[in-house]
Amino acid sequence: MTNEEIRNLIEKALDMRNYSYTPYSHYNVGAALLAANGKVYTGCNIENASFTPTNCAERTAFFKAVSEGVKEFKAIAICGGAEGAEVLDDCSPCGVCRQVMSEFCTDDFTVICAKSVDDYTVSTLSEVLPFRFGPSNLIKS
Ligand code: THU
Repeated sequence: MTNEEIRNLIEKALDMRNYSYTPYSHYNVGAALLAANGKVYTGCNIENASFTPTNCAERTAFFKAVSEGVKEFKAIAICGGAEGAEVLDDCSPCGVCRQVMSEFCTDDFTVICAKSVDDYTVSTLSEVLPFRFGPSNLIKS
């Protein structure tokens, strides 16, 4: 990925924090998911009074894309931190979101955890979710 592509994704992920619905945690996460077709799908976290229906920003972005027929992806940028403040730490994707990535992405899918456009870490899906259980375990071609 180019630096320009990474910066563009991070800017979108940071902006999505403004849309987070977080009356319980006040921890706002934004995500920007780059599809193989070049389109970017964005997401924010959406909480619920019953807690378990809460949807992370990453899954919001994936489900928006998949619901529009897009199932191949290159990278995701994730930015999370306390509501109303600058992002201070990297927000690493939760285990459930890593498993959702695993459903649709190859080992080299890029995971960008960002504090700002100049301060971020880059990993691959295989680094953040080694030994994954995935579609190939159930679907034999
Ligand atoms: N959250 C995300 O949106 N993504 C993650 O990868 C980690 C956690 C959200 C869920 C919840 O709304 C809040 O952050 C606190 O856990």
